Amino acid sequence: MLRSNRAQGALILQPLALVAFLTAAACGAPPSVDAAKVFTPAHQSTGEAAREFFGMRAVAVQPIPFPHKTHIAKKAECVDCHESVEKGPIAGIPSVKTCMICHSQIATDKPLIKQVTGYADKGIEIPWQRVYGFTREAHVRFNHAPHIRASVACATCHGDVANQTVAERVVDHNMGFCVNCHKQKNASNDCLTCHF
Ligand code: HEC
Ligand code: HEC
Ligand code: HEC
Ligand code: HEC
Ligand code: HEC
Repeated sequence: MLRSNRAQGALILQPLALVAFLTAAACGAPPSVDAAKVFTPAHQSTGEAAREFFGMRAVAVQPIPFPHKTHIAKKAECVDCHESVEKGPIAGIPSVKTCMICHSQIATDKPLIKQVTGYADKGIEIPWQRVYGFTREAHVRFNHAPHIRASVACATCHGDVANQTVAERVVDHNMGFCVNCHKQKNASNDCLTCHF
């Protein structure tokens, strides 16, 4: 949701440049799955350029430095906050209401927790910046649930978030990354599995 808001905001500023740019990339010779390694560098420049265009940075600047590490050390699990990751396409970012389940009582005197409470009291969500994600224009579909069912670890695709504070983009979700694993695991590599 945050992502599409941002994408729309950016698109209003300069739609034609990006459409032309991505169309040019997509009209090139379609890469074969076996050529994924050769194909990857070309992608990286397009993908990186698109992400930069949409303001997604490797190190997103978050409104509050949410410490993943502290919460995992206290035995919180990924699914406690990213509640829909096992159920469908989207992992989900927790509402400030989820934070308040604990922080209405825990560490209430700390300045950062006062900031969290401030959002909750005003009834507004914390405006987290997206770290991972495809632009709509990339025409990629992704679905978490089948990967979790197939026991692919979060860390395979997101790195060691359990030891990060705010999440950082440490894995490049380029096409080669996806198709190489699909090939190894005999998952579908039809273009339409991942593209629309
Ligand atoms: C397992 C998933 C997967 C499959 C299968 C797949 N792709 Fe992709 N493809 C991706 C991802 C992920 C990206 C990167 C999107 C981004 O970050 O911009 C991508 C990017 C692309 C791009 C954009 C070019 C660029 O430089 O970014 C084209 C064109 C493309 N794929 C064509 C194809 C074709 C043709 C097939 C079938 C032979 C195919 N893809 C199969 C996942 C897949
Ligand atoms: C399951 C309970 C639980 C939930 C849910 C939870 N936290 Fe925490 N949080 C903790 C505990 C426990 C600590 C460690 C407190 C301490 O060290 O005194 C902590 C620490 C923090 C700290 C560090 C405070 C400091 O200055 O040391 C921040 C910031 C924080 N949480 C933000 C959040 C946000 C934002 C959310 C919602 C996205 C959230 N927490 C959800 C239990 C929780
Ligand atoms: C096979 C790779 C893969 C695995 C495994 C994976 N993710 Fe993701 N994750 C992605 C991709 C790709 C995106 C971006 C999807 C998009 O924008 O459509 C993403 C996005 C996210 C987001 C951003 C919000 C959202 O819902 O899109 C969160 C949070 C997240 N993942 C958490 C997790 C957690 C927690 C786990 C483990 C339980 C996990 N992921 C496992 C690939 C993966
Ligand atoms: C207490 C709640 C909480 C727990 C537990 C938690 N997360 Fe998060 N996660 C968040 C919040 C809040 C954000 C948004 C701030 C940020 O990006 O760091 C986030 C962001 C992320 C993102 C970046 C999403 C995007 O694309 O913007 C990923 C990936 C992620 N978490 C993975 C994990 C994994 C893997 C685990 C388990 C090891 C985990 N999280 C456990 C609250 C949590
Ligand atoms: C580490 C291995 C691994 C990586 C990396 C991976 N996948 Fe997959 N993916 C799988 C497996 C295994 C399945 C098959 C699950 C099954 O058969 O139910 C799958 C299935 C899928 C499906 C089909 C879901 C469905 O509804 O049946 C899509 C779509 C998909 N992956 C997209 C992606 C994209 C896009 C990426 C890259 C961002 C990616 N995958 C990266 C292992 C991986």
